[in-house]
Amino acid sequence: MGLRARWGRGRGTRANDPSFLPRERLGREARLARNLERVYDVGQDRIWNGGDVLQTLLDKHGPVDIPEPACSAVRELLGAMLWGELAAWKVSAELAPLLPSHEGRLAATSQAHDEARHFRVIHDYLELIGGPTDAPAPSAMQTLDKVLAADTLAKKLVGMQLLVEPVALTLFTILRRSEVCPVLTELLPYLEQDEARHVNVGTNLLPELVRDMGWAEAADYWAYQGRLFHLEVRGLAEMEPALRTLGFDPREVYRLGQGKQVGAARMVTDQLGGSAERITDWMRAGMEFTAVYRFPGPEERRDVLSRLRAGLAAARQTEAPAAHLLVR
Ligand SMILES: [Fe+2]
Ligand SMILES: [Fe+2]
Repeated sequence: MGLRARWGRGRGTRANDPSFLPRERLGREARLARNLERVYDVGQDRIWNGGDVLQTLLDKHGPVDIPEPACSAVRELLGAMLWGELAAWKVSAELAPLLPSHEGRLAATSQAHDEARHFRVIHDYLELIGGPTDAPAPSAMQTLDKVLAADTLAKKLVGMQLLVEPVALTLFTILRRSEVCPVLTELLPYLEQDEARHVNVGTNLLPELVRDMGWAEAADYWAYQGRLFHLEVRGLAEMEPALRTLGFDPREVYRLGQGKQVGAARMVTDQLGGSAERITDWMRAGMEFTAVYRFPGPEERRDVLSRLRAGLAAARQTEAPAAHLLVR
């Protein structure tokens, strides 16, 4: 069954549908609408030209020259981001005309424009260093395919805005922190600001969708998140050599992404209230377990039993706090 039939129930999909028009809204609905409008307005105010920014940085710093093996690591990570940008561009452009509210359509349209700019500027930068590597992390590619193939709006939103966008933010942050190239270091904050804004599209649209779900649909939705999260962790493990080349420990990178994902999930469950708020506690505990079990530190024992024990202890302690979406 197609995406439109599964979630739209025909709402806002006809030009003469009254729900297509802006209308008075009260309380929560009005606040969510204003937040979504703000995504559009801020996007408009902070719009930037990727070609101009890249050229200005090249004029300032001179030609890009990254020594090996760092150059290959950047090509691998940024290559994965290139396909992530294309997926985000496709998803936001697909959602824009289908969203039931005027403000949601504004926000998704703004995001589609941002993602097109991101794709082009990353592509142009990659051309300067030999293009993306031939085979980006296979699990990262599977994650993107799974989001593109999602059969409900809620899955597509949670997949792109709450799981993939925080990972994109994380990789941009660590590439910037690596200071491997001054042009890249000064280019990435432009993308990070846009990506942090995009997370708001999901956090403002998802609570209403999740609230309307029956048990079966909700179980399917949370199971989908779990499968996507599992794939993302595998993707990170596949990127481990590139991360280490740039001087990052995979657990440190995982923790940064974990904080951003928990922060985004908390923004959704806070609005749902009640037992939904416990979901982020379980999510954080599950992520804590995964961090310690999957990415043992240099001084930690690596046998399965020791990792299991350490993972369970970490899950109980929930040592990592939820992070701001935009980490400097
Ligand atoms: Fe993007
Ligand atoms: Fe984005």
